Amino acid sequence: MSRFVPYSLPDNLKLGCATAATQIEGGDKNNSWYAWSQTTGHIRDGSSPFRANQHWQLYDEDLQLMSEMGIRDYRFGIEWSRIEPSEGVFDDKAMEHYRTEILRMIQYGIHPLVTLHHFSNPIWFEKMGAFETRESVGLFQRYAAYVVSHLSDLCTDYVTINEPNIYAVNGYVFGSWPPGKNSLLMYFKVMRNLTLCHLHAYRDIHAQYGAKEVRVGFANHLRVFIPYNKNPVYACQALIMKYLFQGALTKSMSTGKLAFPIGWTAPLGKGRYYDYIGINYYTRSVIKNFKEKDLPDRLRNDLGWDIYPEGLSILCNEQYKKYQAPIWITENGTCDKEDQFRSAYIYDHLRQITDGKLPVERYYHWTFMDNFEWAEGESAPFGLVKCDFETQERTIRSSGRFYSEMIGRRQVTPGMIELYLNNSPTE
Ligand code: BGC
Repeated sequence: MSRFVPYSLPDNLKLGCATAATQIEGGDKNNSWYAWSQTTGHIRDGSSPFRANQHWQLYDEDLQLMSEMGIRDYRFGIEWSRIEPSEGVFDDKAMEHYRTEILRMIQYGIHPLVTLHHFSNPIWFEKMGAFETRESVGLFQRYAAYVVSHLSDLCTDYVTINEPNIYAVNGYVFGSWPPGKNSLLMYFKVMRNLTLCHLHAYRDIHAQYGAKEVRVGFANHLRVFIPYNKNPVYACQALIMKYLFQGALTKSMSTGKLAFPIGWTAPLGKGRYYDYIGINYYTRSVIKNFKEKDLPDRLRNDLGWDIYPEGLSILCNEQYKKYQAPIWITENGTCDKEDQFRSAYIYDHLRQITDGKLPVERYYHWTFMDNFEWAEGESAPFGLVKCDFETQERTIRSSGRFYSEMIGRRQVTPGMIELYLNNSPTE
């Protein structure tokens, strides 16, 4: 007997996909990730974002493929280093390029969701200390205002900052991402400045749009934290880690009241700084002695991440209870080189949020095509579409066809279960 059963998608749920500028565009040497990739050992396979998917040139082909797959909702990023290549100098031509791309999207019937910051910085900004400094807030505000003033006739939806906690933890605690530092103090400071960037941008974008409709939020990386076993000490540790990783940040970014240890004041006033609850969900963290441990016998992706679909509904419920707004899953996906379990991953995660009990409006699958996966380089494929980086050939994976059928039919049928799911590995 198959464990898979047919189900339908609720009417108000849109299925799309997500990408990030640095991960797909290629051709830019002026950003912090290109600089970081130039030191041996920083990128596991020695690649750099300079090649990536050549999307800067191939965007039309990519959008066409997306549209052929029936994808009508697309989250993508703007590369700050292209827009403001040196401090205070804005490149209108680069901005025009994005406008052309967005116009093309709209012609294909694809609705854009624009990300303003997704992990990478212009070199000049990185050199001056990036989000470690207080000046970063005004500089980000100026960049965001420039971009938004050029897009306000085309776009209605924005993500200000992608995953402040991941940016801060990898760059400032583990030191595995730029700028490669190890300081807990910096971690909180950087999250504080990123929070201020978001609060200002939220307010500014609404002011720029005036009475016109606009939705602004942030893509919040959330995890489920559980103790390794029944030991109450681990349970306590899991709670503390959850708070320091995502609880304090979510509260600060959403309400404007900075939560300890990010801060304790409300610099812009208390309020509601989101129009949707943006959740990036991948995995859970199992805690023992303040460290992540693996539970035995779990299904894992190619990077060893525990596949835990229930986590998505746990987090949606928890966040909705606290913040009461439409939910947009701004990212969810998995690394699966052989495409053996991606279809089941999609099936299981969407099943968690399709009972109609919560207002989940959008789901953006991460990601459209294999890309430059940060410190993993080109060798950690998350794509619905396979990319051969040498030839730049794109091939829709079986999971891509499954997702595309799901979009087209608005349901998972017995035929789709037979075709795409029944051969998936089990725990
Ligand atoms: C990031 C993406 C990344 C994905 C998979 C998320 O944390 O926003 O840029 O590719 O995870 O690792």
